[in-house]
Amino acid sequence: MRIDILTLFPEMFNGFLSESIIKRAIENKKVNVNIINFRDYTLDPHGKVDDTPFGGGAGMVLQIEPIYNALMDIKTDDSYVVLLTPSGVTFSQNKAKSFVKKNHLILICGHYEGFDYRIKELVDEEVSIGNFVLTGGELPAMMISDAVIRLIDGVISSESLDSESFDDDLLDYPVYTKPRDFLGMKVPDVLLSGDHLKIEEYRNSERKRITKEKEIKEKQN
Ligand code: ADE
Repeated sequence: MRIDILTLFPEMFNGFLSESIIKRAIENKKVNVNIINFRDYTLDPHGKVDDTPFGGGAGMVLQIEPIYNALMDIKTDDSYVVLLTPSGVTFSQNKAKSFVKKNHLILICGHYEGFDYRIKELVDEEVSIGNFVLTGGELPAMMISDAVIRLIDGVISSESLDSESFDDDLLDYPVYTKPRDFLGMKVPDVLLSGDHLKIEEYRNSERKRITKEKEIKEKQN
């Protein structure tokens, strides 16, 4: 799989790409991630990529031309283009599962007051990572890439993916490790019982309980 990220701040991705599972996935050629500065695609002699909004208003607006030029350079029939914007559909585990099936994902990060609205014509989908406004799409691009890359075959063990949060719309069950008793906080007895059927029952009921608890908290939020 190939992921191309269009950004004005390529250095923000250095840490993300050079640590842990993502680093290994790249080294093992499970994924090819390219960080592309779309400032390189502006025709403006001073490297300008934004301008004031028609009709007036605060801030600067990203122009369509550099992004269009970048897409013309990298896009193929196999590409799926995603615009990161708070007005997009909220990202989810299901979306991660659909993105991992794409051969070539292109993520466009905005900055400043917003994009020239016509950029929407160039993309397949608009995605948000939640109902809040960030300074740019770089963190959303890292989050989405991370959620997608870990789903690529061979990036993490298939057992780890077997049962995890949001499968069957349920959150994952709680896990514990040594010590058995930490300052009086004990590991549930059932997990020490060696009874695999009971352990499975316990884990299933915990998944339901934790999911319900989150739903209640979300409603109060
Ligand atoms: N850019 C700024 N805020 C964002 C958000 N919440 N999701 C995606 N892209 C963004």
